[in-house]
Amino acid sequence: MTKIAIWCRHDKDNIIGIGPQIPWHIPSDFKRFRRITNGTNIVCGQTTYESFPNRTLPNRKIYVLTFDENYEVSDKENHFVVNDIKQLKDFAEPLYICGGASIYKLFMQKMPPEIIVDCCYRGEMDKGLSGNPIDISECVEKMDKEYKQISPDYDEENVITTIRVKKGEFVDQSVLKSITLAIINH
Ligand SMILES: NC(=O)c1ccc[n+]([C@@H]2O[C@H](COP(=O)([O-])OP(=O)(O)OC[C@H]3O[C@@H](n4cnc5c(N)ncnc54)[C@H](OP(=O)(O)O)[C@@H]3O)[C@@H](O)[C@H]2O)c1
Repeated sequence: MTKIAIWCRHDKDNIIGIGPQIPWHIPSDFKRFRRITNGTNIVCGQTTYESFPNRTLPNRKIYVLTFDENYEVSDKENHFVVNDIKQLKDFAEPLYICGGASIYKLFMQKMPPEIIVDCCYRGEMDKGLSGNPIDISECVEKMDKEYKQISPDYDEENVITTIRVKKGEFVDQSVLKSITLAIINH
């Protein structure tokens, strides 16, 4: 299995959310996320899952991490409850790690992704949102130490997207190719 983390963080402070919300609305960033993950398997935490409109993202299999064994997903055919990250150890296909912060941290520590799609937003965050800022600085520190950038900087609407791969790891070239095409074909 190839694991790919994909996030959009705010430059410098690495914030990815305020309370349950993402504190910016960049249409091209959302579209890029959808192109990259279209038709794939994604894994996310229960909070992020609840934030998807109608608790779904069409044309994806969604693996929802929650400690709640009785958690009910919105679509039993395509969404699956995962109570322990170890259940994903022998997952056969590429798996896209889509947040939130606790899930990025969990994978970076326990099952590090071979690839990171690092989207870094350099603009202003939305003001007046209630809730605590949620950041992934520890993931970014690990990324800076253990991953190397293998793409140019793709700049769109103040979001710089780069592809990073884990140093010393074999990386599936077909996965890299599909991510690259999804980034550039907009
Ligand atoms: N900018 C981006 O790219 C991006 C992407 C995704 C999300 N976000 C933002 O991230 C924020 C949410 O992050 P978050 O950390 O608060 O929530 P989260 O990671 O989405 O979900 C947290 C939940 O995941 C479950 N969980 C966590 N660790 C687990 C483990 N080891 N085993 C099983 N289940 C586990 C727990 O669910 P239970 O409580 O049900 O047990 C926990 O409450 C929001 O602001 C969201 O908008 C940003």
